[in-house]
Amino acid sequence: MSETREESVRVGVVGGTGYTGQEVLNLLARHDGASVVFATSRSSAGEPTPVPGLPFTPPDRQAARDVDVLFLCLPHGHAAEWVEALLGSGGRAPRIIDLTADHRPGSGRESAAVYGLNEWYREEVGDASLVANPGCYPTGILTALLPLVQGGAVDEDRLTVINAASGVTGAGRAARVDLLFAEVSGNYKTYGGGNRHRHLREVRAELGTLQVLFQPHLLPVPRGILETIVLPVAPGVSADDIREAWQARYQGEPAVRVQDRGLPQLRDVVGTDRAHLGVEETEETGAPVVVVGAAIDNLGKGAAGQAVQNFNAMMGWPTERGIRC
Ligand SMILES: NC(=O)c1ccc[n+]([C@@H]2O[C@H](COP(=O)([O-])OP(=O)(O)OC[C@H]3O[C@@H](n4cnc5c(N)ncnc54)[C@H](OP(=O)(O)O)[C@@H]3O)[C@@H](O)[C@H]2O)c1
Repeated sequence: MSETREESVRVGVVGGTGYTGQEVLNLLARHDGASVVFATSRSSAGEPTPVPGLPFTPPDRQAARDVDVLFLCLPHGHAAEWVEALLGSGGRAPRIIDLTADHRPGSGRESAAVYGLNEWYREEVGDASLVANPGCYPTGILTALLPLVQGGAVDEDRLTVINAASGVTGAGRAARVDLLFAEVSGNYKTYGGGNRHRHLREVRAELGTLQVLFQPHLLPVPRGILETIVLPVAPGVSADDIREAWQARYQGEPAVRVQDRGLPQLRDVVGTDRAHLGVEETEETGAPVVVVGAAIDNLGKGAAGQAVQNFNAMMGWPTERGIRC
């Protein structure tokens, strides 16, 4: 067990050997307000975690009751069992940050949780006992589009086309033949076609009536998401207007950067916990469209970084505490 620092918040991480769990642990190990008291793994119990002196231990719901905040970094479906066991019965319970899709908008269980899209729901997160941390693709899409849809910049009678590419850690650490190095390396392909990707539920729940076509791609790099959005704009709306709308909405937000020119790229964000937004004018498209770009690290702003922002919100601390802006 790591030594509990005075006045630090006791946290536990369930699923600490997964890609998001490792990233959460790496951030929490350096967070000066947090003390990690356990991190679970069934397959690596006894092996060291990123927290000095703390080995992985098998999952234990009773131990989870003793921490102040619990991070659930589990495969989809498994977080709901933990939440029900801990929050659905009486007794002491931790506040929970769930990184799975189990309690996100469109899941059918969303009423139990506050959606943790941090720059939009930070105040509500501050009072929440359960936070549904957003999906990686939705984080980039919603960070880019929410201010534009709410500000009336988008022509909602036309289709918004989102081409998105994710690094391979987006699929999790469990072994799969289609994710072997020899299968992925040197290739670039679509997946999740037909506008049916499960992240669409979450995006639609937040964007209301906006019609979107979402096409994901598998990018042969370990981490990072780049989303290139063909955005039909209302008459008279320029790229400068889009940039100004973002600047107004995200002024003072350390985890969102609006580029002065051009579209973002992965190297701007990999290894960080921030989102980059950019926009470009287009020519000869018939009806007016702009191209909007959003880039995040799927394990940073798309998972662990935003989870730590939500942890900070729960504690009433500055959003950037312990993250890499
Ligand atoms: N990867 C991303 O970019 C990303 C981004 C945003 C959100 N998410 C979401 O975050 C969650 C975690 O994703 P991930 O990529 O970190 O997954 P992952 O790499 O597959 O890790 C899953 C973790 O959970 C543990 N685990 C698996 N089944 C378990 C069970 N039944 N009970 C207890 N522990 C169990 C695993 O370790 P043991 O098997 O050793 O116990 C492992 O530590 C997923 O719901 C995912 O959709 C992922």
